[in-house]
Amino acid sequence: MAITTCIFDAYGTLFDVSAAARELAKRPGREEFAAHWPQIARDWRLKQLQYTWLRAITGEHTDFWSVTQDGLDWALEAAGLAGDPVLREDLLALYWELSAYPEVPRMLATLKARGFTTGILSNGSPDMLAGAVDSAGLDLYLDHVLSVEQVGIFKPARAVYDLVGQTCGTAPAEVLFVSSNGWDVAGASGYGFTTVWVNRAGEPVDRMPHRPAHVLTDLTAIPDLAASA
Ligand code: LAC
Repeated sequence: MAITTCIFDAYGTLFDVSAAARELAKRPGREEFAAHWPQIARDWRLKQLQYTWLRAITGEHTDFWSVTQDGLDWALEAAGLAGDPVLREDLLALYWELSAYPEVPRMLATLKARGFTTGILSNGSPDMLAGAVDSAGLDLYLDHVLSVEQVGIFKPARAVYDLVGQTCGTAPAEVLFVSSNGWDVAGASGYGFTTVWVNRAGEPVDRMPHRPAHVLTDLTAIPDLAASA
């Protein structure tokens, strides 16, 4: 079945989740943070994701903004920087307006010009996603911005992937699902989407029951892949 619809994960796939810590590390007076920022960014992301999985398993859902704050609090405490509320607030403000990876606007514009339906399917809460899409100037190129808040559970719950068909009227096989998160790609592949894993860091593939159909190092080739997949 030909691909009609390209759906993207948001954080880590379209938006660079390390950008908040990287930007803050450049500011004058933030030398101590600058010495620790890569580890803080890694811990922040890892804890944020762990909390989504744990909350999905235990049925104790909260929104992605809450787990983003909880993950940051863990990461700052682990780095010995928990006592700086301004640092915390500055990082959270930067997370609200993360930059998109450089190839994203052109890639989405090409998909739209070629007649594909485009969208985001993300753990992000609707207001976070609106902030990120708006600050990156992507609203023109996206037909749908779907949040897990519509179903009240995080990925990779199948109810989240169901939102695509419910919104777009598509069968799973006509959806190209693109994510940088190996566990998200595994869930989406098992669901029946045609998947692309964007593996910028050259990581090993996740040892899950379902593997990505395609692997790319960035998003540039998505329009050609969608046309030929
Ligand atoms: C998202 C997370 C998984 O955007 O990055 O859904």
